[in-house]
Amino acid sequence: MPLVHAVNVTKSFHHNEVLKGIDLDVDRGQVVCLLGPSGSGKTTFLRCINQLETIDGGRIWVDDELMGYADRDGKLYRLKNKEIAAQRREIGMVFQRFNLFPHKTALENIVEAPRQVKGESKKTARERAMKLLDRVGLADRCNAYPAQLSGGQQQRVAIARALAMQPKLMLFDEPTSALDPELVGEVLAVMRELALDGMTMIVVTHEMSFARDVADTVVFMDGGVVVEAGPPKDVIGNPQHSRTQAFLSRLRSEHEHP
Ligand SMILES: Nc1ncnc2c1ncn2[C@@H]1O[C@H](COP(=O)(O)OP(=O)(O)OP(=O)(O)O)[C@@H](O)[C@H]1O
Ligand SMILES: [Mg+2]
Repeated sequence: MPLVHAVNVTKSFHHNEVLKGIDLDVDRGQVVCLLGPSGSGKTTFLRCINQLETIDGGRIWVDDELMGYADRDGKLYRLKNKEIAAQRREIGMVFQRFNLFPHKTALENIVEAPRQVKGESKKTARERAMKLLDRVGLADRCNAYPAQLSGGQQQRVAIARALAMQPKLMLFDEPTSALDPELVGEVLAVMRELALDGMTMIVVTHEMSFARDVADTVVFMDGGVVVEAGPPKDVIGNPQHSRTQAFLSRLRSEHEHP
């Protein structure tokens, strides 16, 4: 089974059906880029994978584990909070806003969850945190507070913080869209390295060159459905669906005339 196996996922908020039967498979070590207009359900779908939202229908497996539920004879029973927390621990998430603790240094931000959640020793947690800071190019800023770091640096700390839990899967929700343009590249470079190292990733992004170079699969969502999915050379290079074509040409013209 793929690392992520989502089948017919549905989700409504009140009477608004936001996900209308999403299927997605992500093999181990693969990168999927998720594109789509505002409101198409990208964030909601990531949050469903990570159990920040409950789903109304369908199933999501991550590494052969059914997320959020136990299946007894085809009937779903919600897992206990503790069991859900254990599942969520295996998944790293990076948001548009970095959400670092402002009163903790970069290093302290990274050791926090392994110490508190996994009960790791100070030494183990700090050693890994330093390696991760090095990996994201910030070893020399380990004692800096978030306010002393640029947006790009803060986002790299946020990535290191997610990696500190040694996740099986990383979810990124527009990780560069809150950054000044000149800081986007350094964050994408870290994500590219992570992909090369074999991390399984689902990335919501409108950075087309990243999607083209790094994604194994590009998924275009609109109105809560997957409109088109496939290798970037097809979905970005030669989209078949008119909605995909319209979205990409709008994105291109925004890029040229921001
Ligand atoms: N907690 C919530 N309560 C009610 N409606 C919600 C909630 N979260 C999302 N929605 C609605 O669900 C729809 C999809 O939202 P979602 O954030 O998943 O879209 P998106 O594709 O991530 O958009 P964007 O590109 O703007 O981030 C929107 O209509 C949104 O208003
Ligand atoms: Mg979103």
